[in-house]
Amino acid sequence: METVIEGKRLKKTFKISKREKGLFGHLANLFLPKYIHKKAVDDISFTIKKGDAVGFIGANGAGKSTTIKMLSGILSPTEGSVTALGLSPDKDRIEYVAKIGAIFGQKSQLSWDLPIIDSFDLLQKIYRIPDQKYQENLAMFTKILDMKSFIEQPVRQLSLGQRMRADIAAALLHSPELVFFDEPTIGLDVVAKEKIREFIRYMNKELGVTIIFTTHDMQDIEKTCERLIIIDQGKKIYDGTVAGIKTHFGSERKLVVKFEQDYDISEVAKTPSIKIISKKDRSKEFLFKNEDIEVKSLIQYLFENYQVSDLTISEPDIEEIVRDIYDKGI
Ligand SMILES: Nc1ncnc2c1ncn2[C@@H]1O[C@H](COP(=O)(O)OP(=O)(O)O)[C@@H](O)[C@H]1O
Ligand SMILES: [Mg+2]
Repeated sequence: METVIEGKRLKKTFKISKREKGLFGHLANLFLPKYIHKKAVDDISFTIKKGDAVGFIGANGAGKSTTIKMLSGILSPTEGSVTALGLSPDKDRIEYVAKIGAIFGQKSQLSWDLPIIDSFDLLQKIYRIPDQKYQENLAMFTKILDMKSFIEQPVRQLSLGQRMRADIAAALLHSPELVFFDEPTIGLDVVAKEKIREFIRYMNKELGVTIIFTTHDMQDIEKTCERLIIIDQGKKIYDGTVAGIKTHFGSERKLVVKFEQDYDISEVAKTPSIKIISKKDRSKEFLFKNEDIEVKSLIQYLFENYQVSDLTISEPDIEEIVRDIYDKGI
């Protein structure tokens, strides 16, 4: 597949002035300004192919928005380079924005006081969208984003979920082939979130649009993207499939066995990589790591040596793993 975005060793450092307090501090600020350098993105590389749906996930302040801003041409990288759709997002900005869409959950691009439909008409002129294409897109988005009931209203009268849907439509009226969503589900309730996810899935699967999506909600990613990039303190710490996180971070699996009788299972416990976490009468729970124990041989061993009445293995919860990474790093 054709490469759509190539990010090479991207870095973004913000220079933040450090203000001293008090009279002397005030003078110091004037004559000896002090700066600290904040590395928001610290050497991130990746390749995105046509038709990909890639989720960027990470805790608050991880560097997701800064990355999206560099990819969409709003910010220039301090070091490294981006090539997207064969262009340089910041240097070829005018040509580039005509081909992309960008939605920022925290900030609406629509006029606060104009009826939404008027903002849309304005965008048609700005982007020089041919009438027929504009009407087709407008009809399609009104339908699938369920906007009919509020399209005549100004943004200030809308709920957050409605505003987000209008913002999404606004960013897509010119049929971009590459779309960035920065936290489009932030602050939304479950139903509104689900609508946005469904729509993103539709765009990617049915319309073939390449999607880059940031969020701190793992469920957003599980429902829309096959590929996931985890960012932590400006660095890429994972790039792969959603399912692959489990093996990559080597999480523990839990095996719950119900025996026919209350066995002494100290033999099993002798295996160094198995931990017994509970033993209530006939029911015992074991923890083990995928990379240490072959599940098949463990189960075989249990069946050969004991009378087993029931057995379940629970997979680690991806959301839990990601939360763990936020909390502790890797
Ligand atoms: N314009 C800016 N000036 C100074 N610091 C910034 C600016 N934008 C972001 N930062 C800092 O860079 C880091 C990454 O921010 P951001 O990319 O917004 O993270 P995220 O979107 O993952 O929450 C944070 O520490 C943030 O405070
Ligand atoms: Mg952000």
